[in-house]
Amino acid sequence: MDKLNHGTSDITHDLEVFPWPVKDGSFEAIIAWHVFEHLKPWLMIDVMNECWRVLKPDGLLYIAMPIAGSEGFYQDPTHTRTWNAKTPKHFDPESVKYQYYRPKPWKVEVNKTYRIEKANKTAHYFVMRKRGQALTDEAATYLHEITERLKPENVVEIGTFVGTSTLAMSAGHIYTCDKDNAYLKSSERITCFPKQTSTEMLALLSDKVKADFFFFDGRIQEEDLPLILAMSKPTTVYAFDDYNGGSKGVFNVGRLWPLLTGYRLVPPPEIESVTIAVLEPDDH
Ligand SMILES: C[S@@+](CC[C@H](N)C(=O)[O-])C[C@H]1O[C@@H](n2cnc3c(N)ncnc32)[C@H](O)[C@@H]1O
Repeated sequence: MDKLNHGTSDITHDLEVFPWPVKDGSFEAIIAWHVFEHLKPWLMIDVMNECWRVLKPDGLLYIAMPIAGSEGFYQDPTHTRTWNAKTPKHFDPESVKYQYYRPKPWKVEVNKTYRIEKANKTAHYFVMRKRGQALTDEAATYLHEITERLKPENVVEIGTFVGTSTLAMSAGHIYTCDKDNAYLKSSERITCFPKQTSTEMLALLSDKVKADFFFFDGRIQEEDLPLILAMSKPTTVYAFDDYNGGSKGVFNVGRLWPLLTGYRLVPPPEIESVTIAVLEPDDH
């Protein structure tokens, strides 16, 4: 892809115009070799998010850029700015820098700086791997609206990941766990159970906390069911992400709904990229 038609690119398109004319999840890899230093720096988060969108799960983004302050960086009149060795951290939830802009999540696989003094060549070379999905912006807004309406005192969440859903929810207190990840930090309003399974968290909470609202973005385990019921009240509302096709939301609803009496299922709204279904009491 190039905005100028040199006759060598397949798609003539300006990278600063979104969305790019390619479908979600189309590519195994993107090679951005000495490209990003030509773009407007205030579009960098959007550009990275667009790379994330068009890559397949676990897809790789190869980036090379001149080193800031180098002769190579200054010689091209259209260079705007470049990254330094710490810039990739802003895109990886393993770093606290991720929390500034909360872009789509990446894992930094390679971070190298080349200084070949004799050849007068200096460059940064980064390889970034697309991490899994956090809630979409539209789904986060929907979840925010539901919790704003219900005003739950206590919320229990399974599947924190980078915490997009956690931070979107309006609640007195949120308890959240993730069996694989530990990116979000506990605060006054949020108790995180990093690297802990739903069963471990629920067992710790079940005789202490009654939940007004559950959000399931991980897989409910068989052992979780009695614990969830022990923490429930007759008015408790349950929300499930990925309620589409054969995804985990359908599986989770199938596990919990038969154990609840007088609950109806509210399917996801007709908004693309929102797959949250809700189980709520019939008389709600
Ligand atoms: C789609 S991600 C969650 C995204 C997150 N809600 C957000 O908006 O940032 C699903 C996460 O659930 C975790 N998970 C799945 N089943 C779980 C379980 N039974 N207990 C704890 N964590 C679980 C996975 O490790 C994964 O990180």
